[in-house]
Amino acid sequence: MPHSASPVTAVRGPALTFADNPFVVGDDAAMHYEPDALILMQDGHITEFGDYGALKSRLDPDVAVAHYPHGLILPGFIDTHVHYPQTQVIASYGARLIDWLNTYTFVAEQQFSDAAYARKVADVFLEETLRTGTTTAAVYGTIHPESVDSLFEAAQKTGQRMVAGKVMMDRNAPPALLDTAQSAYDDSLALIERWHGQGRLGYAITPRFAPTSTPAQLEAAATLWAQHPDVLMQTHTSENLEELEWVKALFPDHASYVDVYADYGLTGPGALFGHAIHLSDREYALLQESGSAVAHCPTSNTFLGSGFFDVQQACTPSAGPALRTGLATDVGGGTSFSMLRTMAEAYRVAQTHRFPLSAPKAYWLATAGSAQALRLEDKIGQIKTGMEADLHILDLRSTPLIDFRMQYCESLTEALFIQMILGDDRATQAVYVAGRPVNLDGFGAQ
Ligand code: GUN
Ligand code: ZN
Repeated sequence: MPHSASPVTAVRGPALTFADNPFVVGDDAAMHYEPDALILMQDGHITEFGDYGALKSRLDPDVAVAHYPHGLILPGFIDTHVHYPQTQVIASYGARLIDWLNTYTFVAEQQFSDAAYARKVADVFLEETLRTGTTTAAVYGTIHPESVDSLFEAAQKTGQRMVAGKVMMDRNAPPALLDTAQSAYDDSLALIERWHGQGRLGYAITPRFAPTSTPAQLEAAATLWAQHPDVLMQTHTSENLEELEWVKALFPDHASYVDVYADYGLTGPGALFGHAIHLSDREYALLQESGSAVAHCPTSNTFLGSGFFDVQQACTPSAGPALRTGLATDVGGGTSFSMLRTMAEAYRVAQTHRFPLSAPKAYWLATAGSAQALRLEDKIGQIKTGMEADLHILDLRSTPLIDFRMQYCESLTEALFIQMILGDDRATQAVYVAGRPVNLDGFGAQ
């Protein structure tokens, strides 16, 4: 059958993207701002991006242009670490990591053996991501393969690029949430074969964290990854001080928490470590030199009292190149699906290190930086010809207070900062996934 191209979608308005890394080249040099941009999209990709005046002659007069003169067109946000089965335990009171896992999380996750239930939560989860302009996420399922099937089936409907994996966990959890080294290998392999590379879906081998995997299971995860090096490997590391002690007790023969992963072959390009707060210099070097990435989860880290990630050290280390770093909500430890709210928390956390994270750096982390952390920088995270057409249009006056504050705003950088400190899902004016507008009004309450 001859291939027929899909209709062109056109969007016009102020647009901001990052052509480079602001931690490296500085904020102004990294930003590409078009005060009146035209973006043409077809077959899921951006086909033109530039000044409206310069490009309008290429516009077919039959194509309707969606004009957002008072908005700001951004690349869709990318959440590099989130647990969709924990949507129902977001905002659970009074516990730190290990108690929180046992009291809330491991109870909720048992329900995901039921595929219909998993699908219902997956739909809520994807709606919440889109409502806040997040078009891609790296997602944890539960130990149940059905949890990943459900998420990927839901993502096929929304068209979002999603990375996800079945959690591997064969100790230190309730019996109903345990697999084995062999079953985790077999189930993960079957999921890779079923889903990896199908449309916009990618797989991540997902050992939950070292304390819930036996050495045999970590070996199985590494074997599978070596056999499928093009999939990601996601896990947690160095989130909480009690967890660090636990890892020392469980793995006494390894030099550090990150060494455990390195010794089992679970560091390297495509490895993505959530949290990574309490790292020694040696652990930083192990992650950086191996090409691994980290996911900064600020609302989770403050909510669970875990600690304060040092984004400056990760992104501009005094010695050597930066660590690939993305931004993440980590719902349900995290308290919001909104990457704007996540950026606001990242700013507060950076302030504890006396590093006032600039707005351009925060938006870079939520877009191009997160794309690099997921090794998807050739596909998403920027507005650029040839990239996949995922856009988030911010309403810069989404609440009465923001509207009032914006009257005193004097620059783009200031506007970005106001939005990230005061904005939330109400600031999402429109979202495009693979070039198609999302019907945000069509989302019903569940
Ligand atoms: N460490 C291991 N599992 C989890 C989890 O589900 N959430 C968080 N925040 N940390 C973890
Ligand atoms: Zn997590």
